Amino acid sequence: MSMTYLDITGVGIEFDTNGSKFRALQNVNLKMDKGEFISLIGHSGCGKSTVLNIVAGLYQATEGGVVLEGREVTEPGPDRAVVFQNHSLMPWLSVYENVALAVNQVFRRSKTRAERRDWVEHNLRLVNMEHALDKLPGEISGGMKQRVGIARCLAMQPRVLLMDEPFGALDALTRAQLQDSLMKIQAELGNTVMMITHDVDEAVLLSDRIVMMSNGPAATIGEILPVTLERPRDRLALAEDPRFVHLRQQVLEFLYAKQAPAQPARDSTGVCESLAGGEKLDSAPRLVSATGNEAPVKAGEPGDSGSEAA
Ligand SMILES: Nc1ncnc2c1ncn2[C@@H]1O[C@H](COP(=O)(O)OP(=O)(O)O)[C@@H](O)[C@H]1O
Ligand SMILES: [Mg+2]
Repeated sequence: MSMTYLDITGVGIEFDTNGSKFRALQNVNLKMDKGEFISLIGHSGCGKSTVLNIVAGLYQATEGGVVLEGREVTEPGPDRAVVFQNHSLMPWLSVYENVALAVNQVFRRSKTRAERRDWVEHNLRLVNMEHALDKLPGEISGGMKQRVGIARCLAMQPRVLLMDEPFGALDALTRAQLQDSLMKIQAELGNTVMMITHDVDEAVLLSDRIVMMSNGPAATIGEILPVTLERPRDRLALAEDPRFVHLRQQVLEFLYAKQAPAQPARDSTGVCESLAGGEKLDSAPRLVSATGNEAPVKAGEPGDSGSEAA
């Protein structure tokens, strides 16, 4: 097809923690095409965010490197916009202003004031948030905040959209809505996307390829699963499609047979307790979310678990 757009070659990283070295990643290699949608999946703590942060330019690899369109990544830049699990909106700025902030940064010279205004509104329309332009982040639900975060990133017209568990803190219905919007937007705009998820169905539904990471330390890419299901994809039809079922089975096998997490101890209340610092604690319960029943909810964000006004 096309030449390699994003090239991750021989990436490894060692962190300094209290004087001792911790090797998180070893020899990570991945080539992405323009317009490709890739999911990174793997147990909690294996190094997914670290890979994404290296691509974002937020972390510097100890070995190897990342090349985007022929240019080495050495620092963060507007060509690689990041969506985090917990939206990072400015709480004192309105929905409109949060997106405008990014748009003004990127397009101050190339677009007029009126063009920038149209562009902000256009991107908020893409995520169905045009009705809430003047609301503050504190006045909208978690799903809405996440949509504004996505609009803000899209509005920067990044070469690559990096998403770190973007829907992880949302309830299942809101998550499904946002997955569908993201698929539509990506089909229209042809974004190149790297998305971290712990949700197996989400990975299969959205991706062209699923990149499955081995457990750390010294984590690397274990297997890559191509998802050749035709687009547009319909979640209801796919739920019973034997190809979909087989693909999700392959991911589950990788996660729970080939890369089985260390068995967590259970206390008398049946609540899992981690033996190893909590990193793999949520691996097993996430199987529930993989079947689409219950999303893990972040504490302290009441709006995030609530339903969303349409
Ligand atoms: N800045 C850092 N300093 C030290 N250790 C880190 C840092 N960032 C990540 N790690 C460690 O690297 C490993 C991978 O972390 P991370 O990429 O966040 O995992 P994941 O996103 O897959 O849950 C973990 O053991 C984590 O504790
Ligand atoms: Mg992470």
